[in-house]
Amino acid sequence: MTNPAPAAAAERRGDAPLAAGLSIRHAVMELGDGDTKVTALDEVNLDVAAGEFLAIVGPSGSGKSSLLAVAGALASPDSGTVSVNGQDLSRLSQGKRAAFRLANIGFVFQSGNLIPALTAADQLRLVNRLAGGPKSFDPATLLESVGMAHRAGNRPAELSGGERQRVGIARALVTGAKLLLVDEPTAALDRARSREVVELLARQSREHGVATVMVTHDHDVLGYCDSVAEMVDGRLGAPAPVR
Ligand SMILES: Nc1ncnc2c1ncn2[C@@H]1O[C@H](COP(=O)(O)OP(=O)(O)OP(=O)(O)O)[C@@H](O)[C@H]1O
Ligand SMILES: [Mg+2]
Repeated sequence: MTNPAPAAAAERRGDAPLAAGLSIRHAVMELGDGDTKVTALDEVNLDVAAGEFLAIVGPSGSGKSSLLAVAGALASPDSGTVSVNGQDLSRLSQGKRAAFRLANIGFVFQSGNLIPALTAADQLRLVNRLAGGPKSFDPATLLESVGMAHRAGNRPAELSGGERQRVGIARALVTGAKLLLVDEPTAALDRARSREVVELLARQSREHGVATVMVTHDHDVLGYCDSVAEMVDGRLGAPAPVR
């Protein structure tokens, strides 16, 4: 900050991380060792701004989940940087990184990953409590926004796949996270439910200014996204606008 000129130049080159959203620069990550060593991420660069909904497609094993893992501070790249809301994740201690993740990053997985014993409302209350959120927290508003207010008292086993996924999305947004990382949310859903879930993600991104990265094999839902990028052999192509 002592010398603003180079910083401004970096901004123009697009090197500076986004103040709101996700920025990945030159991320490289190898997994396994010896014969099984693979380059899961090969010089990956990516910016996803607040309110933007990006889909990532690509063959199995191309590194899509690895990309979400480094974006969500679940794994560290061997080199390169990952910044969320302008915070370089590698500069946080392990404890601070976990707290940062809880407050700033929401995850949605294929199966919803809900806790079997808890009702939909309690799934949300638990995250609020873990994150040190307000005692007055009321899950009703968020459940309403994903169309699940009428199932607030149901446990996951009493919900359909699409309903579980919608509760999972609401839960990922409890802390006001501005980065949502979504791995194949429609894999277990039929066509109509898939469209509903992805449309919901698009609306949440737009209305709450959330940067959303969704990995999917489902080409049927790409129309709801702002842009699509393809991953092949650990390399991420430039995002192309959907419309
Ligand atoms: N823990 C690990 N140790 C070694 N190699 C791994 C490990 N995890 C993943 N890999 C390898 O890293 C590469 C990228 O895996 P990744 O899970 O990111 O792929 P993906 O694109 O998400 O695939 P899919 O579409 O099947 O989910 C693959 O070749 C995979 O075999
Ligand atoms: Mg995967």
